[in-house]
Amino acid sequence: MKSADWDRLARDFEAETCDITREESADTVARFVAAVPLPAKPVLVDLGCGIGSFIARFGMRFHAIYGVEFAPRIIARARARCGDEVNWLASDIPWAAKTIGRVAHLTVCMNVITQATAAARGRLWRSLADVTKMRGHALVVVPSLESEEMVVALSRQEPEWRKGGLVRRDGVWQKHFRREELADVLASHGFRVTRIAKAHYPWSIEGLRETKGRRANRPWDWIALARKT
Ligand SMILES: C[S@@+](CC[C@H](N)C(=O)[O-])C[C@H]1O[C@@H](n2cnc3c(N)ncnc32)[C@H](O)[C@@H]1O
Repeated sequence: MKSADWDRLARDFEAETCDITREESADTVARFVAAVPLPAKPVLVDLGCGIGSFIARFGMRFHAIYGVEFAPRIIARARARCGDEVNWLASDIPWAAKTIGRVAHLTVCMNVITQATAAARGRLWRSLADVTKMRGHALVVVPSLESEEMVVALSRQEPEWRKGGLVRRDGVWQKHFRREELADVLASHGFRVTRIAKAHYPWSIEGLRETKGRRANRPWDWIALARKT
């Protein structure tokens, strides 16, 4: 999706997107953040920060924060919410990464690297590596292909899949990852995965009612914590 397409969702961002910091049910994001060793003056970079949910919740742990987001109305909401102490960059991630440089002790990139082409995703994986300090960490969330398969099997929907983990959502092809694939792509960009888990979100996000049976088996994104080696 282009920045203009994202911008159209700005007003109803919470309803239209899966904001995993807000939606996930087992506090996995908080546990992963707590596992990151931080120095005295830690720097956070949030690539594709949306309306700033991660920064609003965890930003107080950091000495300096960069929020990158290319949709103007969405970043305006993030700024209104989190304030002017954050360094806001209203730009495409690769361009912002060059401006920011290798400063991050923690780089966050949640549900952003979902582009349909490997080339477009590659630019973003490289940006993640470019802004993260050596021995710094990346916290990455991506849609899970295994979860999508479970949802399709349970809901008996006609799957809209293409080879290579592409799933059609609201008319847009989105890349979904298998667990091993996420670990592999991080490794190929110089990261070693230290933790990987399911970040569960409510069935309502998949347009399905949460029955008693389904509650124990919610859909999920993959969340990975990886160290730059
Ligand atoms: C699904 S939302 C996730 C937002 C946030 N990370 C979260 O977890 O709530 C994806 C966000 O990434 C932004 N985005 C996507 N591609 C981008 C790019 N190339 N450069 C900057 N922002 C981008 C979109 O505008 C959107 O706000």
